[in-house]
Amino acid sequence: MADMDTGMRIGPVSAAPLTVIDRHPPAPDVLAAVRGGLAQQPRQLPAWLLYDRRGSELFAEICRQPEYTLTATELALLRHHAGPLCAGCPAGTLVVEFGAGSVEKVSPLLEALAAPAYLAVDISASALQAVGRRLQAAHPAVPMLGLCADYGTLPDLPLPADWRDRPRLGFFPGSSLGNFDPAEACRFLAGLRPLLGSRGQLLIGIDQPRDPAAIEAAYDDRAGVTAAFELNVLHRLRRELGAEVDPDGFRYRATWEADRSRVAMALVSIGRQRLRLADLEVVFSDGEPLITEYSYKYAPAAFLELAARAGWQGLDRRCDDADGFSVHRLQPLAAAPDCSASAD
Ligand code: TRP
Repeated sequence: MADMDTGMRIGPVSAAPLTVIDRHPPAPDVLAAVRGGLAQQPRQLPAWLLYDRRGSELFAEICRQPEYTLTATELALLRHHAGPLCAGCPAGTLVVEFGAGSVEKVSPLLEALAAPAYLAVDISASALQAVGRRLQAAHPAVPMLGLCADYGTLPDLPLPADWRDRPRLGFFPGSSLGNFDPAEACRFLAGLRPLLGSRGQLLIGIDQPRDPAAIEAAYDDRAGVTAAFELNVLHRLRRELGAEVDPDGFRYRATWEADRSRVAMALVSIGRQRLRLADLEVVFSDGEPLITEYSYKYAPAAFLELAARAGWQGLDRRCDDADGFSVHRLQPLAAAPDCSASAD
């Protein structure tokens, strides 16, 4: 079976479901997170809310849009450089992927490593299942587990006893680090040090600032997939939290903010309207944005500075010909992290 448009052969899909450890935030926490975000200025929703079953399906489709070149670029880098990117990872390494990502991205790593194991951490149990089944079919000899959790607030890895001594390779593709603000990104990276251990390494895909028109197009494709992905979050608020809000009353907008080196993704209110959620009532004025996510872009030097503050040292960087996207390989620094200088 040809897998997506990559031509990769993965054989028949195995019937074995992935074993998933459930640490999804309970519904009251979801409500509290939404409430907190709506009280901010500009109003904002927690980004992980975008990724329910439908959202994860739409996101996979975003990755196939011609404007969103990031996925294909990163995939090519991982395929070409899997050997050197996995250098220094001993036999038995546990690959810990943050975000259930795609079968295609992690496969070259699992092939380059000797006797690896794999743990995927994702907020969507259905995305874990979908990716897990296909990955297990493609790599039947690799032991795998899923962990349904918000990877942004993961205190530890609940691993089976016989996995705990495996050396760890963190894998954070897709420039998802850019979806944290810089201070959060520093704290997240610093938090990976205890999760991955002193022998751990980290592979991370980072998108770089490029032509603004190309960036805005990447986040607002012509086919409208990104807009549907964004509006799905309002449907989710209605469905799961009983919110009263009219998704047709908002339109999607992506804006490159050069001074912050980020894209702002927002749902913009068409006219004045109300959103009701539990005992909360929020009035949106005409044109008021509801931020759903930011995507910060880091030039290599800026990323390595951030990583150093978070206690990581760059060992290797592989980029495309245009040097618009990098996969960085990092190891922990001896010095403790200090994120106090990482302003938003
Ligand atoms: N990590 C991805 C990125 O910043 C997430 C993403 C891609 C995204 N397209 C999006 C998030 C559109 C929200 C809307 O590139």
